[in-house]
Amino acid sequence: MDFDQARAQFPVLERYAYLNAGTFGPLARATVAAMEEGQRRDLEQGRSGPDFFPQAMALRDDLRARIAALVGVEAAQVALTCSTTDGCNIVLAGLALSPEDEVVTTEDEHFGLLGPLHASGARVVVAAAEPESILAAVTPRTKLLALSQVLWTDGRVLPVAELRERSGLPVLVDGAQAVGAIPVAAAGVDFLTVSAQKWLCGPDTVGALVVWEPERLRVAQPSYFAQKSFEPDGRFEPRPGAARFDSQWISPASVSGLIAALDGRPGWAFEHAAEMSELCRKTLAERFEVVSAPCQGTLVSWRAEGDPTATVKRLFERGVVVRDIPGRNLIRASCGWWTAEEDVERLIAGLVDGD
Ligand SMILES: Cc1ncc(COP(=O)(O)O)c(C=O)c1O
Repeated sequence: MDFDQARAQFPVLERYAYLNAGTFGPLARATVAAMEEGQRRDLEQGRSGPDFFPQAMALRDDLRARIAALVGVEAAQVALTCSTTDGCNIVLAGLALSPEDEVVTTEDEHFGLLGPLHASGARVVVAAAEPESILAAVTPRTKLLALSQVLWTDGRVLPVAELRERSGLPVLVDGAQAVGAIPVAAAGVDFLTVSAQKWLCGPDTVGALVVWEPERLRVAQPSYFAQKSFEPDGRFEPRPGAARFDSQWISPASVSGLIAALDGRPGWAFEHAAEMSELCRKTLAERFEVVSAPCQGTLVSWRAEGDPTATVKRLFERGVVVRDIPGRNLIRASCGWWTAEEDVERLIAGLVDGD
């Protein structure tokens, strides 16, 4: 698949310079067609029958295997969830932390991680988002490092495997801005969340959670998928592997949609996204104060001149989709494997036009 073919999968790109995969990736025709087909099947044949559940379970396992391959783990280490937030809640509830325990996080995390951290009951220690500060915040009470591989504010990459090794602590990695955007190697990482609606261009409300050693985490939020068998009082024998953490029934139409989205990813996805992010960063830096460093994730943020919300709105009116980062006075562009130079040119033209 060449670049033009890859880009042509996304009708939204014919209309907008769509630079907001950090919120929601663009949807491809094949993704929506697979979802429509699944919904039509449900409509015409009903959500029952001898084949319905076996087929739905087989689809789930197919998706599990594909996500596992993407991040370099076994399918048995992947749970299907609804989001990164969902995955963080599953892990933190399972760890059963107490107020005497501490979790070290960074000052650049999304509420999708921070909310579950706060709800865990542990003391949340917030460090600057760089390795030495994170390690300096560790005390004998620290039970977990909880941080993003790619920070949503400016695309900085944190060396999560190195932090795990140097601290000797388990790590919960928020992979929302990493998985699908940059190469992610989850082998040896205790917990990694996946948001499929962003860089994997999947449907809404589909995600995954990688659990390196599933047997060592308690199932604290069981769904029907948690058990192989159960007793009248609810005691249950967990399903093998991370499937015990599958959090919800996901419509088979959405599962098929995500499989189609993964099928549409070209082999050169990471290289092209990195190239476009660098182009975007360099071009913006000629006129604006860019805060994103070179060669990080695929998010590029720059200091707003004036009201960032108004700038984002004005850009949208000119066919350019970006977002602002609340409270930081930053505007953020997301560059993916579908991004073309013309998208970056439209962004700059839209910004300069409004000066
Ligand atoms: C770093 C980070 N974590 C978590 C989230 C929340 O993701 P989800 O909606 O999949 O829970 C986001 C969404 O923007 C994010 O950027």
